[in-house]
Amino acid sequence: MDRRSLIGGNWKMHLDAESAAALASDVAAAAAGITGAVDLAVFPPHPYLQCVFKAAGGHLLVGGQDVSDQPEGAFTGQVSAAMLADCGCQLTLVGHSERRHGLGETGPVLAQKSRQALRCGLRVLLCVGETLEDREAGRARDVVLEQLRGGLEGVSTEAISRVDLAYEPVWAIGTGRTAGPQEAQEMHAVLRSDIEARYDARSAARMRILYGGSVKPSNAADLMACEDVDGALVGGASLQADSFVEIARAAARPEQP
Ligand code: PGA
Repeated sequence: MDRRSLIGGNWKMHLDAESAAALASDVAAAAAGITGAVDLAVFPPHPYLQCVFKAAGGHLLVGGQDVSDQPEGAFTGQVSAAMLADCGCQLTLVGHSERRHGLGETGPVLAQKSRQALRCGLRVLLCVGETLEDREAGRARDVVLEQLRGGLEGVSTEAISRVDLAYEPVWAIGTGRTAGPQEAQEMHAVLRSDIEARYDARSAARMRILYGGSVKPSNAADLMACEDVDGALVGGASLQADSFVEIARAAARPEQP
C-alpha cells in the first residue's frame, strides 16, 4: 500500500485571526519533525485563509471548508474555487455533514461544487456519512454509496485522481463516539470497491479514504492500522497543535523509495 496518508484539521467556525495563524505556525513547526509519508492539511474559516497560508510557510496544505457551485457572479456570501486557489488553497472540503445535513446540500449541488473545484485545479475532499437512524435501519451502506455517486456525478477518470474521500458517520462527529476500526474498515472497503467499479482499479488503489468523527490521539493508531483507512479528518482535536500532530504521527506511513 503506497498511499501517502492525509490528516486534515477542520477548524469549523472557531478561532480568530491571531490564534488561527499561531495554530498554523505551531502545527507547521511540529510537522517538520514527523518522519514518514503523511500530508497535513488545515481548513480554516474563509476569512483566515491568507494569514494561515502565510503562517503555514509551505509546510501544510491549506483548504477551504466549502466552495461555491458557481464559477462567479451575483452569489452573495459565496466563495468560488478560483478565489480559494488565489488565497493559496490546494484543496477544499465538499459535502461536510454540517452542510449536507445542517444546510440541506444534496447530490447535484455537491457534484457541481466538486467539478468547479477540480476545474480550478483544487483537490476535493468529499465527505460522506450516514446518520444514526440510517445505521440502525440497516441502510448505512446504501446511503453512503448514494452520497458518493451523487457527489462525483460528472467527475471524469482523469479528475478522480484529485479526489480524496472522508467517511464521517454523522453519529460520530463531535459526539465522542467513534466507529470502531472494523466498522470504519468495512465502509472504506465498500467505498473503494465502488470507485473501482465506476472508474478503474488504479483510481481506486490511489484514492485516499480518510475516517472522521471524534478522532483523537487515543484512538488514531487503531483506526490508521486498517488497510483502507488512509488518514483522518479531525474536528475538535485539530484545534490544539499537540493533539493534531500526534494524530498525524500515528498516520504516517513508511516513505516509498
Ligand atoms: P470531530 O469533527 O473530530 O470534532 O468529531 C470531525 C469533522 O466534523 O470533520
